[in-house]
Amino acid sequence: MKKIAIIGGTGVYSPDIFENLNEIQVNTPYGNVNIIESTYKESIVYFLERHGKGHKLPPHKINYRANIWALKMLNVDRVLSTAAVGSLDKIYPPGAFVIIDQFIDFTKQRPLTFFEGDSGVVHVDMTNPYCIDTREHILKVCQDLNIIHFDKGTYVCTEGPRFETPAEIKMYKMLGADVVGMTNVPEVILAREANLCYATVAMVTNYAAGISESALTHKEVTDNMVNMADNIKRLFLRVIET
Ligand code: HPA
Repeated sequence: MKKIAIIGGTGVYSPDIFENLNEIQVNTPYGNVNIIESTYKESIVYFLERHGKGHKLPPHKINYRANIWALKMLNVDRVLSTAAVGSLDKIYPPGAFVIIDQFIDFTKQRPLTFFEGDSGVVHVDMTNPYCIDTREHILKVCQDLNIIHFDKGTYVCTEGPRFETPAEIKMYKMLGADVVGMTNVPEVILAREANLCYATVAMVTNYAAGISESALTHKEVTDNMVNMADNIKRLFLRVIET
């Protein structure tokens, strides 16, 4: 059986589409991780809530190393992750999915690696930070299901938990970023280091500060997520079964 992991970000919590739900705890050197194990058609599906049960952990407090280590221990074949993002350009409207292919790291105080020098110095290649195969698979399913999406994009990761200033957004845009979020780094880095096949669907919930006319609230972000939740379910189910 194929083993697929889903890391659900803001707004993506409900694994009720899956069968035989079973809560498990995986003990890693970085801490314990709660995961919901289930099945869907011919696959085992592991669902991990990035922000913990009830969305309690802010982006800078998430135990990214424990999460990725746990998925490695479970021997998953693919990791599908979601990320709520703000859009830096009017061409990416709220509601759209961006199958990101690059990231820029503006985080400040998170453990970023498994390689702390204990067994030598390791530098992992980041030419293709996201799994090429999985991205292509996701893109094909988006096309098949007529889901509005962009087939690439650069994600800038901020430290949060505050939203950005318009000046910061202007700078990120000048640097080449398309969407902004607070959680994809170090998750994508650790997945690469662990040699996991990992891809992210960035879900545009809002225009970033200064791109939109009004002030940004967490409620705006979560309200827009509700509308996208249906599409993410359709997308992931089809990806899992094909
Ligand atoms: N900024 C940072 N993170 C986000 C945003 C944003 O505008 N929207 C959703 N996550």
